[in-house]
Amino acid sequence: MAEDLQIVQGDKLAQYESLIPQLLGLLSGEPDYIANLANTAAALKEQFKWFWVGWYLVKRDELVLGPFQGPVACTRIRHGRGVCGTAWKEASTIIVPDVERFPGHIACSSLSKSEIVVPMIVNDEVIGVLDVDSELYDQFDETDKHYLERIVQLVIGNQPELSINDALKGVE
Ligand code: SME
Repeated sequence: MAEDLQIVQGDKLAQYESLIPQLLGLLSGEPDYIANLANTAAALKEQFKWFWVGWYLVKRDELVLGPFQGPVACTRIRHGRGVCGTAWKEASTIIVPDVERFPGHIACSSLSKSEIVVPMIVNDEVIGVLDVDSELYDQFDETDKHYLERIVQLVIGNQPELSINDALKGVE
């Protein structure tokens, strides 16, 4: 398939609706977990122009920085720490309208103002998180939660058993 992404304007619903079939095309037939995480981060960044989009993957007792788009970021986050570590601990999506009001928020960049973190859950275990940051306050809502959870499911569902097992074992 062509690797060019068709970027649409419009409200976020229209943007997600346009992006999802394209993501399906990008992911289908590609079994490599890291390649799919990388292209998903790139596609989200390209469509929405968010400040930072990326993955942290559970490796032993920490989240470790995975494929991302945006400025350099913190490499390791402990369980229960920051927004990412909390989403991991609670195994649920967290929307933060103002990062300064989230106790323990980890400021990889002072430019980030709002954030959403979606856990990747396989067999009841969190194997990583998708983290999206915006330079503007209050940028994420239930629409983002719905679609980003769906996108995380697409990435996970696309992986053969072996890759997921590797991820669960925390292969470095
Ligand atoms: N703010 C996150 C850390 C990751 S960066 O935003 C890329 C947190 O509090 O977990």
